[in-house]
Amino acid sequence: MLQRLGILPVAASTHAGSVDALYFFLLAVSAFFALLIASLIIVFSIRYRRRADSETPTPVKGSLALELAWTIIPFCISMAIFVWGARVFVSLRTPPKNAIDVFVVGRQWMWKVQHLEGRREINELHVPVGQPVKLTLTSEDVIHSFYIPAFRIKQDAIPGRYTDEWFEATTPGTYHLFCAEYCGTWHSHMLGRIVVMEPADYQAWLSGGAGTAAGSAAGTVSVAASGEALFDRLGCVTCHRGESGDLGPALGGVFGTKVRLQSGETVEVDDGYLRESILNPQAKIVAGFQPVMPTFKGQVSEEELLQLITYIKSLRSSAGKMDTAHRES
Ligand code: CUA
Repeated sequence: MLQRLGILPVAASTHAGSVDALYFFLLAVSAFFALLIASLIIVFSIRYRRRADSETPTPVKGSLALELAWTIIPFCISMAIFVWGARVFVSLRTPPKNAIDVFVVGRQWMWKVQHLEGRREINELHVPVGQPVKLTLTSEDVIHSFYIPAFRIKQDAIPGRYTDEWFEATTPGTYHLFCAEYCGTWHSHMLGRIVVMEPADYQAWLSGGAGTAAGSAAGTVSVAASGEALFDRLGCVTCHRGESGDLGPALGGVFGTKVRLQSGETVEVDDGYLRESILNPQAKIVAGFQPVMPTFKGQVSEEELLQLITYIKSLRSSAGKMDTAHRES
């Protein structure tokens, strides 16, 4: 209803219904109490006005029933908002396992998008309709925020770490993309568009064919393959071959497992840990290894880091000489 009135943007994701319903409920509760309180002020100030200069008011005694009512009712309403909001929040924050992975790197003042299959785009994101998509976000410089009003999602892209957001588009079409965090002079120009396509069109687009302009050969090398090339070029392979006597831990199958560190702590091998270990290798040394790895800070861009991580993720357990606990779940 609010969309038809032009108050809310079009709704084009599976999140939109639940976010809008909660929003409408908050609006309705606020409107109800605002009207109630304003009306009571007017009615009471007329009804109980001072009628003569000599008039003295009768003392007011408390009312337990009244006080309980105006305590318990708002408590129940706010708990309902909390529980409802938490449910919507959890569903917004929990990407389905089968979601398509897409990487987004923000910088002053553009969005750079990398699809696993290799296609890249700038200030545009092509996605299929009816399939969950998970965006992994980071930034090269300052905080940006990836905001798609029609999907009701917004997430900061933060330098030095990964954040994510997910959606499932419900209607093919083109939608606005905004940067929603002030990021410098041209913040307001940091715009883009989301193109939601039928799955078949999306597949054609991904493979770079069928009348798309930017489908160059370089753009169709998969992210994992770019990562592998980089893994060789940077010499990572010298110490991480997965053979005994290697200077570094084997990487096959480690993603998603827990490893024991020199300090005795354990850490889960996720995107963040891999990223940290490439840029700041001394931070969390795996038990049984020496802190001999040099930093690759300044040698790899954010996009290349994502390629390396995707390649490491793609490695099946081969040697498994790393000191790992069993994969959980
Ligand atoms: Cu990027 Cu505002």
